Order: sequence, then structure tokens, then C-alpha cells
Amino acid sequence: MTNRLGSALLRLESVSSTNDVARELAASGASEGICVIAGEQTAGRGRQGRTWNSTPGEGLYLSVILRPTVEASNSPIITLAAAVAVAETLIFDFKIEAEIKWPNDVLARGRKICGILVESAIEGSRLSYAVMGIGINILQRAFPDSIGTTATSVFLETGSEVTIKDLLVFLLPRLDHWYRASQSRVDDVLGRWQKLSPMALNCQVVVEMPEGNIEGITRGLLPSGALDVELTNGERRAIFAGEVRLRRNQV
Ligand code: BTN
Repeated sequence: MTNRLGSALLRLESVSSTNDVARELAASGASEGICVIAGEQTAGRGRQGRTWNSTPGEGLYLSVILRPTVEASNSPIITLAAAVAVAETLIFDFKIEAEIKWPNDVLARGRKICGILVESAIEGSRLSYAVMGIGINILQRAFPDSIGTTATSVFLETGSEVTIKDLLVFLLPRLDHWYRASQSRVDDVLGRWQKLSPMALNCQVVVEMPEGNIEGITRGLLPSGALDVELTNGERRAIFAGEVRLRRNQV
């Protein structure tokens, strides 16, 4: 690992998805740390086949090329590190009461302000590259009806017209720091993530999964990045994918 994340920035006006552009660059040998930023995305995507609202000039649409050294099976740690970096930026640099919702949403007052989508290419047991895609709502004053009550932006939280550049200036060093930690000091990332995610410990939740919902109490994060949930019968489940909804705080 040589280049700092953000050592080179490629700024494009309009793209389908910054993750697509970064993946193409990574596949043709581009170095770690190169960032792709777009003014708008015409097909911004989120987890589980969802779209990411990417209106022109209102959000940060960023993808960072990574060449991770961790085993492919440990790749979820990269997403956790990105969530920590975003949450810290919003809390410390923009005074927003942000928290992380497992696995990788950043919320403010319970509404989503940032989403993270890490996509990777695997070669044997290693990652040949990964692309860390981050979307942060910055200047939106309102959202489409479908997410009108569940999304928020830096503007709605602070009343300030923060520029995308301002946000990047604070975010990139934190991303660099936590990404490096994810490659060598996994426990630091897990510990910091848990502090920023009150919902991950001792909260009653419903986990929505394709095979059906389960209810239980969160017992923290496992080293794999899975959420540890204690079911009503005492059985423990490692949750790797799904949507977690809060039923009751700190039981
Ligand atoms: C999610 O919450 O479901 C993840 C959303 C990730 C959105 C970002 S915006 C930059 C990058 N390009 C994409 O198409 N998606 C990610």
C-alpha cells in the first residue's frame, strides 16, 4: 500500500455510477488511492439492488480504488472502516449526531445520511481490488416521496450549505486512516465501529432476511463483521446480510 486515499482525484460531470468507473480503472491496473467523483449519477446503486438517489450537485458520489491485503473472507472490515470514517467526519467536523446502523448505513436522527457499497474482485483467496463507494447527502432540501421520511442531508441537519469539496477535505484523511487500520489493526476498527453504533449492543431488533424475519437482542459485532444476535430461545445467530430494525433501545 503506497498511495494515500485521495492522492489522485478524477472528477466527472455525469456517470452511470462512480463504482462502475472505478471498477473499470481498477481492472485495467489503476493504483490504490485513486478517487472517482461525479457531479451526478444516472444509475447510482445501493445494496440489495436498490438505487441511490444521485441528484446533480447535491451529494457526494465517491468511489475509491483499493488494493487490500486482507483475505477476501475478511473484506467486510473495509465497509466497517468506511462507515467509521464517515460517521467521525459528520460528528467531529460537522457537528452532526451521526451513528452507524449495521452493516453500513450512517444515520442522523434515525434518518439515512450516507450509504456505502464496497464491490470487489476476487482472485483465489485474495482481493485483486475493491472499490469503496460512498454516497453522502449534502445539500438536499427534500427527497423523493419514496425516501422522504427516511433520508436526511448535511443541510437538513445543520442548516449550512457545506460544499462537496469541504466535506471531502475532512473525509479523505479519515478514510485513509481507517482503511489502513482495517488492513493491520482490525480490532481498532471493530472497537470504534461498536462505539459509533449503539444499536449493535443490547438492543431489541427485528432482522429482515429473505428466509424470514427473526427477533432478538444485539450482542455486538463478531470479528467477521457479522452482527451477533441472541434469539428469544437463547440461541446466537451471526447475521451476515439483511435489514435490521430497532424495536427497543438498550434492554
Ligand atoms: C446503500 O446504502 O445501499 C449503499 C449506497 C451507496 C451509494 C454510493 S454513491 C457512490 C457509489 N456509486 C454507486 O453507484 N453507489 C455508491
